[in-house]
Amino acid sequence: MIMEDIVLVGFGGHAKSVADCLEREEKYHIVGYTDMQAATSQYAYLGTDDKLQAIFDRGVKNAVIGIGYMGRGAIRQQLYSKLKEIGFELPVIVDPSAIVSATALIGEGTFVGKGAIVNAEAKIGKMTIINTKALVEHECVVGDFAHVAVGAVLCGQVEIGEGAFIGANATVIQCRKVEPNTVIPAGATIR
Ligand SMILES: CC(C)(COP(=O)(O)OP(=O)(O)OC[C@H]1O[C@@H](n2cnc3c(N)ncnc32)[C@H](O)[C@@H]1OP(=O)(O)O)[C@@H](O)C(=O)NCCC(=O)NCCS
Repeated sequence: MIMEDIVLVGFGGHAKSVADCLEREEKYHIVGYTDMQAATSQYAYLGTDDKLQAIFDRGVKNAVIGIGYMGRGAIRQQLYSKLKEIGFELPVIVDPSAIVSATALIGEGTFVGKGAIVNAEAKIGKMTIINTKALVEHECVVGDFAHVAVGAVLCGQVEIGEGAFIGANATVIQCRKVEPNTVIPAGATIR
């Protein structure tokens, strides 16, 4: 199978996790990353985000945002707009160890990390992060740009507003609604 090229936009800690899943998926070839400065990495440093247009023009049509966030998703939203304006595709990236129901819907640019579960009829928006070992149960709705952090549990029919952050190991019990841009602390239980 021919692998399509992809560029990593931003190379923080989250990007390492995303890159690792991309390698495991074997669908895309990582051409390198953009960031404010070069890091010690196996991947090529391609310059700052100002280089994205040139990277697209030379034939790299896929991008993934490697910047995670904890309640401050504005940078991801700005980058998303910039990438769309250039014309990049933002594929859904799902680690091979994740379980995603065939009846779940997942929007562009969303990342589903190692061991995560997205159950039946869940609806996940665009550019969300369903992080390592997170559980999104049946019929949950997760808004665009939300982040369900590592090990967090959304019980059935939970609704997460756009841009909300559900902290590590937090639990939201069934049918509860989390307002847009809310930060749920790590380990909290929303009842
Ligand atoms: C909730 C959170 C955002 C608050 O961070 P902050 O604004 O820097 O707040 P502080 O650390 O100054 O804490 C403020 C108060 O909240 C309490 N607090 C902080 N985090 C808490 C948590 N997870 N559960 C319960 N109480 C918490 C602190 O003890 C402190 O209480 P005090 O005022 O009585 O001393 C942060 O603690 C948190 O949980 N972040 C999520 C981390 C995470 O999930 N990472 C996963 C990445 S994938």
